[in-house]
Amino acid sequence: MLHILCASPESGILIPIPQYPLYTATLSILNAHCVPYYLEESHAWGTDLNSIKKSLTDARAAGTDVRAIVVVNPGNPTGATLSPDDIRNVLKFAAAEKLVVIADEVYQTNVFIGSFVSFKQGLRDLQKEAPGAYDHLELVSLHSISKGMVGECGHRGGYLELVGFDPLVVEQIYKFISIQLCPPVLGQCFVEMMVNPPVEGDPSYELYRQEYDHIFLGLKQRANALFDAFKLMEGVECQDPAGAMYLFPTINLPPKAIEQAKKEGRSPDEMYCSRLLDATGVCVVPGSGFGQKEGTLHFRTTFLAAGTEWTGRIVEFHRAFMAEFS
Ligand SMILES: Cc1ncc(COP(=O)(O)O)c(C=O)c1O
Repeated sequence: MLHILCASPESGILIPIPQYPLYTATLSILNAHCVPYYLEESHAWGTDLNSIKKSLTDARAAGTDVRAIVVVNPGNPTGATLSPDDIRNVLKFAAAEKLVVIADEVYQTNVFIGSFVSFKQGLRDLQKEAPGAYDHLELVSLHSISKGMVGECGHRGGYLELVGFDPLVVEQIYKFISIQLCPPVLGQCFVEMMVNPPVEGDPSYELYRQEYDHIFLGLKQRANALFDAFKLMEGVECQDPAGAMYLFPTINLPPKAIEQAKKEGRSPDEMYCSRLLDATGVCVVPGSGFGQKEGTLHFRTTFLAAGTEWTGRIVEFHRAFMAEFS
């Protein structure tokens, strides 16, 4: 989609920060502009319309032709889900500003608190409330077999759904995507199985349900165990484990740790993550890899690894780290 939307070096796309880094990487390859907007950590990493509006206004004033807004819901790296109000506000804003909405919803089944609300659902609700007013809004929803309970990253399967696009545009998008030929057969099979899973009465339904629930519960338990571990860590604050496969806590490091990082020529979050890896074997990613507000530090963890004992190792490491630099 980014290839199709970025028509010239002036083209720009609104990207949430902290971000999934392949967006800025792709925009660099396309020689197009990343127009960043910050998510609001104090509001469970929700979207802040004022921040989005400011980013758009500034980018347009600088001559950027802003064409679309990306939303990642549930979020990577934030592990947050957007509220129905945030979804409505983004859709209304995009409709008013004639922006395509790219809803990256690859974590749509990884929701641990409440239930998933898709951007398409939000759009349909708006269309019911104000018939005709949102029919011009162009929405792309992305999904993949690599997340959810399917978790088949290596098979490279997924799809995008286009809503509200002119049929002639859809034809061109279809033609463009066809340049890649087809994905491997197994990937195609997994997409089919994801969108048409066994239903009650099918011979494989019981086993499917059992395996699905087992994987889902395991992820949820590990998300909560990690969240509970963060509560024991001084200077660490984390939003509720709402969705996706990640937690993205803030770390408030002592001034001596920040000085030490400076001496080592590294950012403080990078130094913290590298020491954590050395001490525990647990690999987390510094927040600076995703973008974070000036003056804040984070790290991103996943809870994919089996068991929960490793969360205790993180707590132990943190205690020793804080003692060393206090
Ligand atoms: C937000 C987001 N979108 C897209 C992807 C890419 O998914 P896939 O590897 O299935 O293409 C990822 C992978 O981590 C992701 O986190």
